Amino acid sequence: MNVHDSEQLTELLKGSGYVRTDSAKEADLIIVNTCSIREKAEQKVYSQLGRYRQIKMAKPGVMLGICGCVAQQQGERLIEKLPFLDLVFGTHNIHRLPEFISRVGKTGRPVVETGFHETVPSIGILAPPERGAVSAFVTIMQGCDNYCAFCVVPYLRGREESRKFNDILAEVKALADGGVKEVTLLGQNVNSYGKTPGNGHSFSELLRAIGGIGGIERIRFTTSHPKDLSDDIIDCFRGVKALCESIHLPVQSGSDAVLARMNRKYTSADYLDCVRKLRGACPDIAISSDIIVGFPGETEQDYQKTLDLMGKVRFDTLFSFQYSERKGTAAVGFDGKVNPDEKRRRLIGLQSLQDLHTREKNDKLVGKTVEVLVEGTSRNTPQDVMGRTRTNKIVNFAGGSDLAGTAVRVRIVDAFLHSLRGEMLD
Ligand code: 5AD
Ligand code: SF4
Repeated sequence: MNVHDSEQLTELLKGSGYVRTDSAKEADLIIVNTCSIREKAEQKVYSQLGRYRQIKMAKPGVMLGICGCVAQQQGERLIEKLPFLDLVFGTHNIHRLPEFISRVGKTGRPVVETGFHETVPSIGILAPPERGAVSAFVTIMQGCDNYCAFCVVPYLRGREESRKFNDILAEVKALADGGVKEVTLLGQNVNSYGKTPGNGHSFSELLRAIGGIGGIERIRFTTSHPKDLSDDIIDCFRGVKALCESIHLPVQSGSDAVLARMNRKYTSADYLDCVRKLRGACPDIAISSDIIVGFPGETEQDYQKTLDLMGKVRFDTLFSFQYSERKGTAAVGFDGKVNPDEKRRRLIGLQSLQDLHTREKNDKLVGKTVEVLVEGTSRNTPQDVMGRTRTNKIVNFAGGSDLAGTAVRVRIVDAFLHSLRGEMLD
């Protein structure tokens, strides 16, 4: 979502005559788009701003700003702490960036805007991918009403708001007309799309409608909440041809006691039921997840239950984190804080189990033929190209950059932890 917000900022700035540069030293305007989901992400922002400050000092006239969740949370305090900043704007004010820039230009004083609005106008900014790219993000909803006890998102992204059905379809059509083949639908909880009063369309209706748009070969979505994964949505994996055989379904923990304290509103049995139904509808579906270790009150037995669940599901990939206390969330007041060494030990144990599962899944693909949508030249080997399977696995194989944007058939010849090696058949 942050990557897409940055794409939208870039698009807006084009209207004010700016062009993108990959070198901060060349820039006249530097905006740091921030995340505060965990403390580590937030800390990185401060060190990066320190580096950009040097650039600003060396080149008068450069504007330096911060936006996103850290800006939303800290507001005025950022200017007090870092007086060299020109712009601080929050998650609901992205669309106003050009106005903020001209205000700073006129007054020479910093602008701080962190108000929430009833709707988030930036949701509708069409930001097509860079020339030649075939994958695009499309925001379908914003905000979150779930209040998981560990999570700061509802406080910083605001209330859940679904975007209008026809606006989304129009955007996807425009992207398809521009050559986009793959869309990733974005939202903090896409499964609850349409629940905003007055919307009148469900997420499964949206998937089916996008599946009918000519030129769109692949549809992905992120993120899903297990409590809202209806049979209707699961059924789309049977009926919507363009829907990729892949889902990110964060479980967070395998212990029912921990899940209840996290306010997740499902049990580990409910989660396993989702997995069973998904595999029933789509046997080859790749399932990825998020897990937090060391949530307050998590015992060794709770942790073991998470490992047990991983053994039952066998995720294709897993994003795992040590619990990080976030100001303003319910879990701040919970007893039983787990000490940092223990959290680290649990994370390492969990990650080594997942590595076994990931390898096992990847090894099974050796000898199989898969469809790969080529993204471009491989990062390390210029004679290779890199693309993704419909199950979202990275495949490298020998080929020229002219293949970028095409879907080709590839036979998998080798498997590693983070990628696969293939040979093109077409
Ligand atoms: N500490 C650790 N991980 C967190 N996440 C969200 N909040 C926290 C936190 N306070 C993780 C969850 C979520 C993912 C995006 O980040 O697993 O699914
Ligand atoms: Fe955070 Fe829970 Fe909302 Fe996801 S569903 S954004 S984890 S509060």
